Amino acid sequence: MQRSKIAGIGYYVPKNVYTNNDLSRFMDTNDEWIQERTGIKERRFADRLEETTTTMGVEAAKIAIERAGITAQDIDFIVFATLSPDYYFPGCGVLLQREMKMKEVGALDIRNQCSGFIYALSVADQFIKTGMYKNILVVGSEKHSFAMDFETRSRNVSVIFGDGAGAVVLQAAQNEDQGILSTHLHSDGSEAEILAMFYPGSHANKWLKDKPAYPDQELGGLFMTTEQLEGGAALPYMDGPAVFKKAVVKFPEVIKEALTANNLTEKDIDLLVPHQANLRISQYVQQLLGLEDDKVFNNIQKYGNTTAASVPIALCEAWEAGKIKEGDLVCLAAFGSGFTWASALIRW
Ligand code: UT7
Repeated sequence: MQRSKIAGIGYYVPKNVYTNNDLSRFMDTNDEWIQERTGIKERRFADRLEETTTTMGVEAAKIAIERAGITAQDIDFIVFATLSPDYYFPGCGVLLQREMKMKEVGALDIRNQCSGFIYALSVADQFIKTGMYKNILVVGSEKHSFAMDFETRSRNVSVIFGDGAGAVVLQAAQNEDQGILSTHLHSDGSEAEILAMFYPGSHANKWLKDKPAYPDQELGGLFMTTEQLEGGAALPYMDGPAVFKKAVVKFPEVIKEALTANNLTEKDIDLLVPHQANLRISQYVQQLLGLEDDKVFNNIQKYGNTTAASVPIALCEAWEAGKIKEGDLVCLAAFGSGFTWASALIRW
């Protein structure tokens, strides 16, 4: 079977920069706390009305497609990863297909949060390997700012996340030593609710604890009272320390799994591009694996955690900065809500 390779890569971040000090205008937080606990200095927030998860994905996709030396008409499948879609349904894949005037190709939406991009890459990789498609567009995009609460009650969540998009075009590799060597996907739903957004969802009532929406109603329940919404029923929930503890175990585990599967070791990694969850997590993983500073790429300082977009944005920035050369071994790894985690090893 032919391996797949990244033939083109691009990213897009909105122009609005919000520093930590800017956030302290809305909530009780400060630059020192945010930098010390997360490494984040600033993040980008999309225009509230003009930009969406899809439009940012389109901007990243245009660059990836151009760099692959093809046109949007050549794309024969779309895989779009996001947790912050434009609509509850339909997904962003079809909106991107419409926006980019693509042919009536298949569009698949991936709901795997922080590991969404690597899951999407893995799916696309299988389609290239079997020869079913030739040019697959894989997008990770997030507009978190629209669903976040900028009040002190949500400060542990809202200082971390940012908006942006990244995209790659996957094609069959001509050279058999090149391309995606393997991908590794995992999940453990036993703690699914410790990093979650329950509303809108068909089981949201259960998680509204003492205040389910319309408890006496025979059917329905999606629509909440104004009081419930104002009380924060539709906000993301995160038990940060619990997520942190799991992440520092699963990141190294899934990276080692990828290396072992390819008879390689940590020393063979030229560049590790981890999901940008928290700089402290990346540094801990780096230390555990014994990697030099120039072998790990981080840009969370500038963009915060952009969930499904973080790996392709970081990969693209690293590539643009000349940190990835032909023949390099690049490792991608991610961990997040679900829990889901994943890795990919790529011979560039
Ligand atoms: O992409 C994957 C998804 N997410 C993650 O990977 C997140 C993993 N977890 C983390 O990154 C960290 O747990 C956080 C950065 C979210 C939080 O850092 P922490 O060191 O675990 O802090 P904490 O939640 O234990 O809170 C410590 C204190 C609390 O105050 P008290 O109770 O000790 O008085 C919080 O209320 O820090 C307070 N706090 C803040 N203070 C200033 C929480 N958020 C803030 C804030 N500014 N933004």
